[in-house]
Amino acid sequence: MRLADSTASSSPGCVVLKPDPMNRTPLIAPSILSADFAKLGEEARAIEAAGADWLHVDVMDGHFVPNITIGPMVVKALRPHVKIPVDVHLMIAPADPYLAAYREAGADNLLVHPEAGPHLDRTLREIRRLGAKSGVVFNPSTPPDAIEYLMDDIDVILVMTVNPGFGGQHFMPSQLAKISRLRAMIDASGHDIVLEVDGGVTPETAKLCIEAGATALVAGTSVFKDGPDGYATNITALRV
Ligand code: DX5
Ligand code: ZN
Repeated sequence: MRLADSTASSSPGCVVLKPDPMNRTPLIAPSILSADFAKLGEEARAIEAAGADWLHVDVMDGHFVPNITIGPMVVKALRPHVKIPVDVHLMIAPADPYLAAYREAGADNLLVHPEAGPHLDRTLREIRRLGAKSGVVFNPSTPPDAIEYLMDDIDVILVMTVNPGFGGQHFMPSQLAKISRLRAMIDASGHDIVLEVDGGVTPETAKLCIEAGATALVAGTSVFKDGPDGYATNITALRV
């Protein structure tokens, strides 16, 4: 199973999963955080040409996480360089005041951490109202039941397998049980929710994530480590 509409840019509404004749599960979402920031447009084009399904953009505010990265202006500049969906991971607090700006900049998915605001349900509904797909991100310490009563409002669930803030960290095996638990919650909900994993994803850890029920993988270091000539090989290596 994979996202049938994963190549449809800026398509609002619910995510639809259909049988995948191309067998491209899992979706691979390279994180632009590991790209050469002096040539982001070129890097984004190369990643799409190498077979990426989504482009993952890590937004950090130096407050919610101890690093500062990408504002809406950069997303807007990047957006015309690719057709694949842009998956914007907001590691900022508060997130609500910036949702519209990132959506207008071209974000297809807007992912928020529950800890970023007092009303997660309101935030998720606002994301869908803006025409984007709504996502919830789990820090390693965030329990699965944070979304127990919100399953109708979610298109993407992202499980952090590192503490957010930096690329190049080691995968936390402790989070595999959470991936399995969220897989069960998704299946019980009857909704086609993408289960994405972020942090320390390599061909070895990708296999563990897929076995636990993940359907999408974010990868920075393991995709970008060899430069553009290695992007296609490194993406293919994650499709375990
Ligand atoms: C970490 C970010 C990740 C990061 C992944 O806060 O959310 O998306 O870029 O990088 P790697 O794959 O190097 O762990
Ligand atoms: Zn991320």
